[in-house]
Amino acid sequence: MLGRVNHIAIAVPDLAAATAIYRDTLGARVSQAQALPEHGVTVVFVELPNTKVELLEPLGADSPIAAFLEKNPSGGMHHICYEVEDIIAARDQLKAGGARVLGDGNPKTGAHGKPVLFLHPKDFNGTLVELEQV
Ligand code: CO
Repeated sequence: MLGRVNHIAIAVPDLAAATAIYRDTLGARVSQAQALPEHGVTVVFVELPNTKVELLEPLGADSPIAAFLEKNPSGGMHHICYEVEDIIAARDQLKAGGARVLGDGNPKTGAHGKPVLFLHPKDFNGTLVELEQV
């Protein structure tokens, strides 16, 4: 079912400061900040040779990462995103096995314009898992 790691997402309290760490301290290529109001985040992509890191800053009052940052004020790893070929087939197989899909269970359009779903961290070793159809 799983393909490549598409990205690893890190929630950060200060996107400009986090971007500077990756760009200036770590010497990575970083994107412009992109506001995604539908997802309640502003995101910067760190482009690496084999994958991406997404830096996520809360956007709006009911951002889904606000509670995470309350528990982790200096930021932390928020989720890992795996690629799948067929997100509906993957969802149905996982649900049949008892895994919980977050939200209404239907894919949303993710930061890369592709369908995404999130899986409950309690079913995946305490890690929030995102699936992205590529
Ligand atoms: Co993601």
